[in-house]
Amino acid sequence: MKKEIGIGLLGFGTVGSGVASVLQQHQEDLTYKLGVPVKIRRVLVRNLHKERNTDLPQELFTDSLDDLLNDESIDIMVEVFGGMEEARVAIEQALQAGKGVVTANKDVMAVHGRDLLVLADRNGCDLFYEASVGGGIPLIRTLEDGLASDRITSLLGIINGTTNFILTKMKHEKKTYAEALEEATALGFAEADPTADVGGIDAARKMAILASLSFSEEVQLDDVYVRGMEAIEDGDLELAEQFGYTVKMAGSAKKDEQGVEVAVEPVFFPNAHPLASVNNEFNAVYVRGAAVGETMFYGPGAGSLPTATSVTSDIVAACRNLLLGVNGKRVHSYQYERKTKTDEQKSARYFHRIAVRDEIGVLARLSAIYSKNGASLATVIQHPNPAREDADLIFITHTISRKQHLDVLEELTTAPEVNGVLSHYRIEGD
Ligand code: NDP
Ligand code: HSE
Repeated sequence: MKKEIGIGLLGFGTVGSGVASVLQQHQEDLTYKLGVPVKIRRVLVRNLHKERNTDLPQELFTDSLDDLLNDESIDIMVEVFGGMEEARVAIEQALQAGKGVVTANKDVMAVHGRDLLVLADRNGCDLFYEASVGGGIPLIRTLEDGLASDRITSLLGIINGTTNFILTKMKHEKKTYAEALEEATALGFAEADPTADVGGIDAARKMAILASLSFSEEVQLDDVYVRGMEAIEDGDLELAEQFGYTVKMAGSAKKDEQGVEVAVEPVFFPNAHPLASVNNEFNAVYVRGAAVGETMFYGPGAGSLPTATSVTSDIVAACRNLLLGVNGKRVHSYQYERKTKTDEQKSARYFHRIAVRDEIGVLARLSAIYSKNGASLATVIQHPNPAREDADLIFITHTISRKQHLDVLEELTTAPEVNGVLSHYRIEGD
């Protein structure tokens, strides 16, 4: 029976310092829950000379990964330094050295997760990654364990804290995009390269992880349709409000007999929809199961202590397995062949904002493009735009296929009376 469990902490930034705090502050409770204390043995950082606000002794800090790999008192490595290749290699080496791994790294898990999980099994080690999706919300364990009895049919949610924070600040405090992004970065929510957040890639990685787990088939990053915040034009947030909607960066995944569709994009939610009022860095995900129906998971999606809570829970799970001698005993194979839907098979309602010449008959001529493509319209409104000489035409469709949506936009782009397709959104949850 082990007398103590040793942790190697790889990274001491927003998340790593939070993990150290949680382990220190909750030490008594954790020792009670596990029966043995959990101790940080070494901490890997890039810059040994950086000033750090911590009680941990300076001699624990090192800039050499080998110091951790070769330390036999370290049982579990906690990878919270981020990025792709160095992190992948560090996880691989830790597993090869027979150490359990906990990571918050969605970049690595979305692309190399499967191979690493197989390697972990082969080496009799655990590899846990709860914090890679949803910050402090226990989503992965819920899908793996809590909902293991069900067949998940869809996911819909807000899974990037930074973009949700930005959109909230822009809508409710009239901050500019740049001001809100700066604030999100200062609060430690944004990735080292925030283009991953605002461009939708961070959320796409998370959706690939969640969809693979939910549908028991391999959903690759390339299978996720991604549109980032750059698709949101000036005036769209206000226009959405006028029509009773709120713009959110949302992730969605659906599976039916035709296949799987997964997307990350700015979406219109009716203001009464619960996801419309998920604000700041908070995340929320609806999970629909064939038997359970609709469930919703809500909580802080980024930030030091919330994320550290998920990381530390993974440490507890790995410690329990270590004490029972049952590490690396999970099944990581997929039950189903990967099958993705075509654009003809995807369907949604859409909101189109088109800049047109302000002339008689334009509305009828453009509406005809929709009918020609079999795209049924629910609402057509001409919206004067005082900032420009032309007008905005707003088209809201009934449910149409994604192919019809794209075909209509293509024809609109080349119509002589159209000055530009300003923006377009999928409408969810009407
Ligand atoms: P930070 O940039 O705040 O911290 C990174 C830490 O890792 C720093 O201590 C840095 O050292 C160290 N580091 C970076 N690269 C290396 C390297 N090559 N070798 C040694 N040390 C290195 O990142 P976060 O804490 O925000 O994020 C860490 C991970 O957690 C990422 O994968 C991120 O996606 C994920 N995550 C982050 C969340 C958040 O809210 N921030 C939420 C959920 C997941 P030094 O201090 O010397 O610079
Ligand atoms: N940058 C990420 C976000 C951190 O804003 O959601 C949490 O994964």
